[in-house]
Parts: sequence; C-alpha cells; structure tokens
Amino acid sequence: MPVEELNPADESAVVALWEAAGLTRPWNDPGADFRRALAGPSSTVLGVRDGASLVGAAMVGDDGHRGWLYYLGVAPAHHGRGVGRCLVEAAQSWLAARGVAKVLLMVRRENDAARGFYAALGFNEEDVAVFGRRVGAP
Ligand SMILES: CC(C)(COP(=O)(O)OP(=O)(O)OC[C@H]1O[C@@H](n2cnc3c(N)ncnc32)[C@H](O)[C@@H]1OP(=O)(O)O)[C@@H](O)C(=O)NCCC(=O)NCCS
Repeated sequence: MPVEELNPADESAVVALWEAAGLTRPWNDPGADFRRALAGPSSTVLGVRDGASLVGAAMVGDDGHRGWLYYLGVAPAHHGRGVGRCLVEAAQSWLAARGVAKVLLMVRRENDAARGFYAALGFNEEDVAVFGRRVGAP
C-alpha cells in the first residue's frame, strides 16, 4: 500500500479525514497544524489514497531526540484494511532514516480501540506520567 508525503493541496481533505476520525478538538486548528508540519524541516504528514480519495493520514515529527506520531486517522469505511498499520510503519521508516531510535505517541486512556491497535503493532504502554501546560498561561 503506497504511503506518500502530503502536500499543501491536501489540506481540506486531511482536515475532513481527521474530523471524521474524531481526532480534532475545538482548541486545536488542524489546518494550521497541517501547514506547520509540512513547513517545518523536522516533520511531515503521511497519507494513503484510494484513487483520488485520501483514506488515511498521520503526522510524524522528530523533536531532536525522539520521534512523535500525531493525528493518525483512517476513514471509517476503510478501517481494518491495514491502512493504519502502513502509516505507522511508514512513519517509523521516516524517523529511522533520520537516526531517531524511538517513537512515542499519546492516546486518550478511554480510546480502547486505538490502544488495542497500537498493542497489536508491538507498542508498549510506557510507565510514565505525561505533564502538560498551556505555554504562556499564568
Ligand atoms: C486506530 C486506527 C488508526 C486503526 O486503523 P486501521 O487501518 O483500521 O487498522 P489496521 O487495519 O491497519 O490494523 C492493524 C492491526 O491492528 C489490529 N487492530 C486494529 N484495531 C484493533 C483493536 N481495537 N484491538 C486489537 N487489535 C486491533 C488489526 O487486527 C490489525 O492486525 P493485523 O495487521 O495483525 O491483521 C483507526 O481505527 C482510526 O482511525 N481510529 C480513529 C482515530 C484514532 O483513534 N486514532 C488514534 C489516535 S491516537
């Protein structure tokens, strides 16, 4: 299954895909995230097409130490056909080519389907707490 790096013309399709996959949140701007990932030297967005339709996408980035995977989503009608696996494997290849040794990702604890998917792909749940803070908040 061919996986390709997306380009700016894919923005509306990728945002629609991420919305259909339930990955967007009101406080994030997925279009801005997409443009930023394409513009930066250490990140990209990978996609799988079925004909002219985008059916899966994932953002991958190298933070200088580890790799991170974000916004992995497959169009609901294409679940269970190996699209998600291909995207995760392509993201790992993209990171490995940059000398990154480990990939991390965050999954909401209640997202049992995604947790099952990543376990099936050989990912382990790490015994760490993730801390977060709005940058610039008082
Ligand atoms: C999670 C998601 C990306 C999986 O994509 P997909 O294309 O349906 O998955 P694949 O067909 O590539 O499945 C790959 C493997 O995972 C397994 N798998 C998938 N979901 C699973 C689950 N809930 N439990 C156990 N195994 C699962 C499949 O059986 C398959 O195994 P195989 O390759 O040995 O046959 C997709 O369901 C999705 O877009 N979900 C909504 C968005 C989301 O939650 N994204 C993750 C946010 S962090």
